[in-house]
Amino acid sequence: MTSAQITVAVTGASGALGRALLQRWHHRGARLVAISHSSAPLHLHDRAGALIPLQQLTWQVGQEQALLTELGMVDLLVLNHGVNLQQQRNAEATARSLEVNALSSWRLLEGFAALVASRSEAERAARPRPEVWINTSEAEIEPAFSPLYEISKRLLGQLLSLRSLDLARAVRIRRLVLGPFRSALNPVGLMPVGFVADQVLLQASLGCNLILVTPNPLIYVMMPLTTLSRWLYNTLLTRA
Ligand SMILES: NC(=O)c1ccc[n+]([C@@H]2O[C@H](COP(=O)([O-])OP(=O)(O)OC[C@H]3O[C@@H](n4cnc5c(N)ncnc54)[C@H](OP(=O)(O)O)[C@@H]3O)[C@@H](O)[C@H]2O)c1
Repeated sequence: MTSAQITVAVTGASGALGRALLQRWHHRGARLVAISHSSAPLHLHDRAGALIPLQQLTWQVGQEQALLTELGMVDLLVLNHGVNLQQQRNAEATARSLEVNALSSWRLLEGFAALVASRSEAERAARPRPEVWINTSEAEIEPAFSPLYEISKRLLGQLLSLRSLDLARAVRIRRLVLGPFRSALNPVGLMPVGFVADQVLLQASLGCNLILVTPNPLIYVMMPLTTLSRWLYNTLLTRA
């Protein structure tokens, strides 16, 4: 996807990776939509210190339909929001992890695919192919020392593998599988968030749909094998 004139919307916009991705898309000339569950205004600055222009939208998990009505002009939707409720296992924490990390992203993926499929022929021809990037995590297949985080990210990854079989006709779907980087969610993450954001955009510009950024060499072998085996299993056992 070329950056000039495209509109990029990012959930979890005020988080570490959300901000880093928005800044990089700004430098590539994109229009920005920052999607945040907090109503605090988001101020991002470019390399020269100038305020980056952006539209800010507020949403809450469970209210995806209301958010989708605002995404009519979006070409790339990055589903990046997430929580890590470490050491918790009660019913409330379980529900919150599943809703925030898995089900809200799944609903937004379905809703955005339906939205772009409803665009007219002329509108589709005039715009780049719409894309959704989904930030799962290497917790899809590796321990993250946080059971609820692992369960919810694995669910998201599994849903993505299953529903991509149909939804990839309407939108290009890219899966971001990231290793530990520093943020509020993971203050001891190894990688600087700027490096991760640069790598994500580089791999996307190279045409990768499976974007891997991690210091763990096993992930580069295991994740492609996992997605391939899920594709085979889901294709053989389900119908469109
Ligand atoms: N850090 C890591 O090591 C790591 C590794 C692999 C994958 N990831 C994934 O990368 C993504 C970004 O994480 P990050 O590390 O940048 O963490 P972060 O700085 O904590 O950002 C996560 C953002 O998610 C949004 N969020 C939190 N609770 C929410 C809720 N209840 N409803 C809706 N949105 C909520 C918040 O942004 P708003 O206030 O703007 O909504 C928050 O700032 C997450 O999906 C995470 O799982 C992180």
